[in-house]
Amino acid sequence: MEDFSTNPIYLEIRKKFLESSESNRATLLALISGCLDHFPQPLKSPYLGTNREIDFSFVKKYENLPTHPQPASDVLNGAINFFQRSILWHSPQALQNITPPPLLEAVAVSTIANLYNLNLLWDYVSAGVQEAEQQIVRQISRLAGWTGDSDGVFTYGGKGCLTYAIRIGLNRCCPQATKEGINGIAPVVITTKFNHYIIESVCAWLGIGKDACVRVKTHADETIDLNDFKNTLNRVLSEKKPIACIILSGGSTINLNIDRVDSVRNIIEEICSHFKLSYKPFIYFDTVVSWPWLFYKDYDFEKNEIEIPKEILPRIKKVVELLRTAEYADAIGTDFHKIGFAPYNNSAFFVKNKAELHSVVSDASIIRERGVFGNNFLQHHTIEHSRSAAPVMAAWTILQSLGVQGFRMYLAQMMIVGDVFRNILPKYGFELLNPQSLCYASVYYPIPPQGPKNFNEMYDGQVKDTNYATQYIYELSKYFSLGGNGSFDAVDVGFLKNLSKSKLGADMSALRIFPMSPHITTKEADHLAHQLGEMKEKFDREFTYIKSDAPEVVHK
Ligand SMILES: Cc1ncc(COP(=O)(O)O)c(C=O)c1O
Repeated sequence: MEDFSTNPIYLEIRKKFLESSESNRATLLALISGCLDHFPQPLKSPYLGTNREIDFSFVKKYENLPTHPQPASDVLNGAINFFQRSILWHSPQALQNITPPPLLEAVAVSTIANLYNLNLLWDYVSAGVQEAEQQIVRQISRLAGWTGDSDGVFTYGGKGCLTYAIRIGLNRCCPQATKEGINGIAPVVITTKFNHYIIESVCAWLGIGKDACVRVKTHADETIDLNDFKNTLNRVLSEKKPIACIILSGGSTINLNIDRVDSVRNIIEEICSHFKLSYKPFIYFDTVVSWPWLFYKDYDFEKNEIEIPKEILPRIKKVVELLRTAEYADAIGTDFHKIGFAPYNNSAFFVKNKAELHSVVSDASIIRERGVFGNNFLQHHTIEHSRSAAPVMAAWTILQSLGVQGFRMYLAQMMIVGDVFRNILPKYGFELLNPQSLCYASVYYPIPPQGPKNFNEMYDGQVKDTNYATQYIYELSKYFSLGGNGSFDAVDVGFLKNLSKSKLGADMSALRIFPMSPHITTKEADHLAHQLGEMKEKFDREFTYIKSDAPEVVHK
């Protein structure tokens, strides 16, 4: 039978793959550089190509699927349009959120992992990458202070880590859960008011319902109120509700508020023995943001080898002291796609007792010992079935490339730079809302010309005042991104529409400055802070409040 190998269309298709001899490896590099050449070299801008609104008119051209194979250059020229106005996380002017600029080596190795298309569900089809994953498990477990039988897996995000934690914890309190489901039993997840808002969503995904999430009060520094925790635990156990998971903060993005796991564990021990509970509730310490501070675990703060300024050092020391309590947690998470320089998605979940991970969806408690090559199947206990090897290799490369000292110095540099913004912006009418933060992100209420004079006043204000402030802050953040309509440097800051609620329940908005680029210096930060201040002065002279449908807050 005649095949298509000489058909001109089929020949076009074949050209698009790596040759079996790989003689066309250079094609891949040419494709990447063709894409990169499409955009002009960014000139003092935190955006790729344009800082204006994205022009989506090009999309229409691609609406109907092409009948024939198209030339690579045409397709990529089309694809690249979707990247216009990408935020350049490596730019010092990108101050928006906790997104890392990916390490070039990590991007390179991810591309290689994608090129050879390794699938971590089974070692036979993922070359040696399961070994790299296991090595990272050992390294992070040591940082957590765990000495025994831990294990871990890479997954799709901090949300994935939370999903693992609650699902594993469910097995402790409802051992029949895997086989029979939870059958009318209503397990709860206890966390605090300040812990991440996605926890309810994870409860919903797991079928225990959003209402399963019980939120304990916090102190002014956003850490757990142990008295309220005790009361909650007593109440839940008196009501005979199983506890699927206790989720503690290992640090939020803005304030790095960290709960002490040891204190919480002591309370759990005491109350659970009082109730003669047959299981210990599972404790997940959500360290997806803070884990890089663990690199300071063995740092001699007295000697201060890398000469961290004395204004910064106590804050780092405090974070490390709190993170040391990870030793008492049952599980932790690390997001390499937060302060870990990895491309998305790149997170890993670590559990102290590997049997709990291995038997997460098995009918009996088991440990899957690693076997000879070709005999290691991980999909029996991972959320995903097929899993890319790229994140593992990116994380491995990052850890090996930067080393302990590299991470330490980066964090110290961001703290130093963060303080520059904290010191300068208040002089221009930006009220600093998180002076106590242990992190380097800062949050401000830029005081509007006619709005509430400070954040507290806004709390007590009328809904029209809150709306005015939100509209002003939103427009101001857009003005910053446009460089004050061209007269200043464009700066991408974070617009937080609902940092908190006013007395009347309206959203109270703010701006966030989150330095992430390793290229930012104190000089650059000083310059940018003054630029922001001067832009605000100019904006205040021009701003007129027009009720728009953008972020208008509706009183609930
Ligand atoms: C403390 C914490 N946990 C979990 C998450 C969710 O992480 P992801 O977006 O990677 O799923 C976040 C996200 O910011 C977070 O700050």
